[in-house]
Amino acid sequence: MDRFHFPEWTNRLPALILGLLTFGAGYVVVVGVYGTTPRTINVGYSPKQPIEFSHKLHAGTLKMDCRYCHTTVDKAAFAAVPPTKTCLNCHSAANPDGSVSTSAIHVKSEKMLPLHRAQASGEGIEWIKVHDLPDFVYFNHSAHVNRGVGCVSCHGRIDKMDQVYQAEELSMSWCLDCHRNPEPHLRRDEFITVLDYVPEPGEGAAVMAEKGIYSSTNCSTCHR
Ligand code: HEC
Ligand code: HEC
Ligand code: HEC
Ligand code: HEC
Ligand code: HEC
Repeated sequence: MDRFHFPEWTNRLPALILGLLTFGAGYVVVVGVYGTTPRTINVGYSPKQPIEFSHKLHAGTLKMDCRYCHTTVDKAAFAAVPPTKTCLNCHSAANPDGSVSTSAIHVKSEKMLPLHRAQASGEGIEWIKVHDLPDFVYFNHSAHVNRGVGCVSCHGRIDKMDQVYQAEELSMSWCLDCHRNPEPHLRRDEFITVLDYVPEPGEGAAVMAEKGIYSSTNCSTCHR
């Protein structure tokens, strides 16, 4: 009897296995890197902006309300970064009659040069987005801000940041943690933009009841 012979093609088997193993290792690396890059778990992400605009100064020290600049946050899905015009209320390089302003706040500061350039050219300032969800996720600011969720729950202490950074994970499990049990995160309307406010015991439960807030964990809430 002849000894059993492995068919010819099995000679290529070791190469095939090696190939699969390499592919597998590559796959693990790609998934590992993708899962931890600044787009997904980007806590701390803090790009340098075209103007050294400080929330610590404007929202913290000067106590300007967030809605002075982010005017759509309680009306629309998007919070909208302010147009140059908003800054010019205080920092205009020109008087209403067109003459050069010497009285506006820090009008001669070097930090204002990009603002003056934008004013002169009429072009917007290209602020760099800090928080950015993938396109397949639906998010809505007004749905939160009008339902008792304060800015601080999702953006941290912006009023202490010279340069904005991402304070929370913005992952699906982070969204769901709150959606399952929003009560501890809710506050009365007058404290939505008060970042150092800590809700009183029972406040969240009262807001839940008054606004009829439900726990929304259906996939279609965020993926439509
Ligand atoms: C004087 C105007 C002004 C005020 C007041 C202000 N902001 Fe802003 N905000 C800006 C500008 C300009 C940017 C874009 C540049 C930057 O990121 O620093 C911005 C960016 C942000 C971002 C990051 C947006 C992104 O790209 O993801 C958040 C979050 C934010 N502001 C929250 C707040 C909160 C919360 C308050 C109130 C405590 C507030 N802002 C008050 C002008 C303002
Ligand atoms: C309601 C008035 C007001 C508005 C609106 C405002 N600022 Fe200011 N800003 C101030 C004041 C006041 C100071 C100076 C505070 C100090 O030096 O004590 C200041 C300081 C600054 C500085 C620091 C200048 C330096 O040399 O230290 C920058 C930069 C600046 N603002 C940019 C902006 C930008 C960009 C916007 C629009 C998104 C804006 N500001 C909107 C009032 C305002
Ligand atoms: C429930 C969480 C949550 C709350 C509450 C919240 N934000 Fe946001 N904010 C986000 C997320 C998530 C993004 C990124 C949205 C995207 O990429 O589509 C964002 C983006 C922003 C932006 C960038 C512009 C935009 O709309 O993408 C600004 C400015 C901002 N938020 C300001 C505020 C202010 C001011 C408040 C309070 C009045 C606030 N946010 C409350 C989660 C929140
Ligand atoms: C700190 C708590 C909190 C966090 C974090 C949070 N949400 Fe919400 N979300 C709420 C509450 C409260 C409501 C209002 C539910 C209601 O109307 O009864 C809501 C409502 C919504 C709605 C509107 C639902 C509707 O039927 O109109 C969407 C969409 C949504 N959230 C998406 C998100 C996404 C996406 C994230 C994460 C990026 C997120 N939320 C993070 C508390 C939160
Ligand atoms: C409260 C909002 C919310 C709800 C409800 C929700 N998701 Fe998501 N989902 C997100 C966010 C935010 C991301 C993006 C996470 C990221 O960028 O890392 C995401 C990402 C995903 C992804 C992409 C893979 C990943 O993990 O990044 C899938 C698939 C997904 N969701 C499926 C679902 C399914 C199925 C349900 C219902 C059981 C669901 N989601 C309910 C917010 C939500």
